[in-house]
Amino acid sequence: MNATSAPAAAPPQPLFITPAEIVSEFSHHTPLSLASTMAALLQLGMLRSRNVIKDLINADHVDEVSIVDNATTAVSIVLQHIAWGFAEGRFYPGDATVMFHCAYGAVKKSVEAYFVRTGGYVIEVPLPFPLYSDDEIVQEFRQALEKAKQNNRRVRLAIIDHVTFMPTVVIPVKQIVNICRSAGVDHIFIDAAHGIGCVDVDMKQIGADFYTSNLHKWLFCPPSATFDSCTVEGLTKALLCIIPFEGGIDGIKKRNHDAVVEMGEMLAKAWGTHLGCPSVFEHGYGGSACLFGSVERSTHFEVTNILEGQVWCRSFDILSSTQGRGGRSIYGYAQISYQVYNKVEDYYKFRDAISQLVQNAFTCASLPNS
Ligand SMILES: Cc1ncc(COP(=O)(O)O)c(C=O)c1O
Repeated sequence: MNATSAPAAAPPQPLFITPAEIVSEFSHHTPLSLASTMAALLQLGMLRSRNVIKDLINADHVDEVSIVDNATTAVSIVLQHIAWGFAEGRFYPGDATVMFHCAYGAVKKSVEAYFVRTGGYVIEVPLPFPLYSDDEIVQEFRQALEKAKQNNRRVRLAIIDHVTFMPTVVIPVKQIVNICRSAGVDHIFIDAAHGIGCVDVDMKQIGADFYTSNLHKWLFCPPSATFDSCTVEGLTKALLCIIPFEGGIDGIKKRNHDAVVEMGEMLAKAWGTHLGCPSVFEHGYGGSACLFGSVERSTHFEVTNILEGQVWCRSFDILSSTQGRGGRSIYGYAQISYQVYNKVEDYYKFRDAISQLVQNAFTCASLPNS
């Protein structure tokens, strides 16, 4: 389109609901219809928030964007939609959904509740870890789809994490969407609970059918689950806050990425170990993993106790597995993240606490069985 045929720029929309708009809404309703007035204001605020999100994620139209309370709700909505396929006779018992074996617990529960219960079959794709390249992930997914085909299973749904919860890996979603399309998968859903603010999120580029991302994780918005206490206007404000924030959404990603890489490298060097996932460098996620020592089973490590409550223990989930690649036994990985409440200084304390434990020949056998 050249300059002459371009439509005149639309006048800028006010970002927040203005006092004049509130007065105007109230004047349309009698005092008895206070609820209608509030509903109209709520809708206006929702629409503005959805428009801000639409631009952030490069969606085509605001109608493609909905605000729900959390990622789990979005997953349930998608799975209910898929379950109708069985109820209406479009899908058949044994039709499959494909997802990573490490899909988030609540997602797996929803798959059980809506998909398996209505006759669906689940194919779990193992996620290689430690990981050396994206191709390994793509290869595993491709093999799972090929196997489904050999077994004459129609794949009705692929659930792909954008960033897996544990271990923390950025998934090459675009590539996996492409192989799902080529394999004739009916619906593709990206669970990007850790998406926006953490990795690049571009609806047109990714090309999935459904994509959900929390705003309250890496975009620092208040939890919209508590809509009563977080007004829609509050959400719009929070969304707009990120625009001037340290270079906007790219600034947030860079800030978290650079800091987590610094922390991960520092820990790996101090412990004489390695990062579990090199793609952290390419994708810029605020999570990483460092091998640290002989932890024998998956556990939540109460580092908080060791550090006298000075750090947030959720950042220090320790992941372990009895079997690693090629049958080699692997040990523990520390999942780390950089956030507003989680700073580099905290990780120096973490480094020292773990070094101390290793020096004391600590193993999980000494943890209570809970
Ligand atoms: C990969 C993944 N999916 C889904 C969820 C659930 O998100 P929510 O608690 O917002 O429902 C999480 C939460 O951490 C997650 O990591």
